[in-house]
Amino acid sequence: MSEELKEKHFKPKAHILTLLGEELIKNPVMAIYELVKNSYDADANKVDVFFKDVDDIEKAAIIIEDDGIGMTSEIVEDVWLEPGSDFRKPINKLGEREISKSPIFQRIPMGEKGVGRFAVHKLSTKILLISRPLIVKFNKDKTEIISKTIADYEIELFINWKDFNQSRHLSDIPIKWKLRREEKNFRFKEKSGTYIHLSGLKETWTKGMARDLKGHTISMLSPKVTENNFKINLSFDYQWLTDFPSASGILEESPLSFTL
Ligand SMILES: Nc1ncnc2c1ncn2[C@@H]1O[C@H](COP(=O)(O)OP(=O)(O)OP(=O)(O)O)[C@@H](O)[C@H]1O
Ligand SMILES: [Mg+2]
Repeated sequence: MSEELKEKHFKPKAHILTLLGEELIKNPVMAIYELVKNSYDADANKVDVFFKDVDDIEKAAIIIEDDGIGMTSEIVEDVWLEPGSDFRKPINKLGEREISKSPIFQRIPMGEKGVGRFAVHKLSTKILLISRPLIVKFNKDKTEIISKTIADYEIELFINWKDFNQSRHLSDIPIKWKLRREEKNFRFKEKSGTYIHLSGLKETWTKGMARDLKGHTISMLSPKVTENNFKINLSFDYQWLTDFPSASGILEESPLSFTL
């Protein structure tokens, strides 16, 4: 009996990216949390999250802006546009995968799977991303930083996830982005960072969600993370968080405490 050897490649439908975000991330609160973790991993000192008109689906927008190391055009092409990229775990001299710490503050990254950014699907249909990178150069052994330069360009990328429907293949949808070189047109002037603007929100936000998110960000800011000088500013158009207890307030009120 003759046999025929056949070969074919998986050809994912575009919809797979939407599924990734929607199935992996529990709710919109956790989706924002994923983006905040990305800012921490990018060595940001602070991340500002603005919720604009989020109780009105027509006008609502969420903006996440950090002062981290941003993304070079190579990172956008080889990491951001490559779902599942494992660049955080490069192979060491022994051939093992090793988590690489963040370049400036030597933080242990909170992300490693290479899919967290697709969390935005849980939130909105449109994403505008602007990023100006900091180019960090190391010595030969990668033990010391020899230079830090703010790149002379800024990247702007826009995606409408509605284009990623079931009828198309992922490889048939081009992603276009701009590389700006004129500083006067930059969003990030004399600094690096990443700006994400989400619109076409999938659901409205409530005070309960705002407080849930605040709770998550407080627990993320453990004493270890605070040592790393990372601040998360959440701001809503409404008085949703005014009476929210601070981390130190919670500690003061706690009935039990452990001393090591
Ligand atoms: N705010 C940001 N600043 C700089 N780079 C970013 C930012 N957000 C994402 N990136 C880049 O995009 C990559 C992909 O982010 P994504 O959250 O999808 O994956 P991850 O953080 O590597 O892993 P995980 O899926 O566990 O979160 C990051 O590894 C990082 O290189
Ligand atoms: Mg991540």
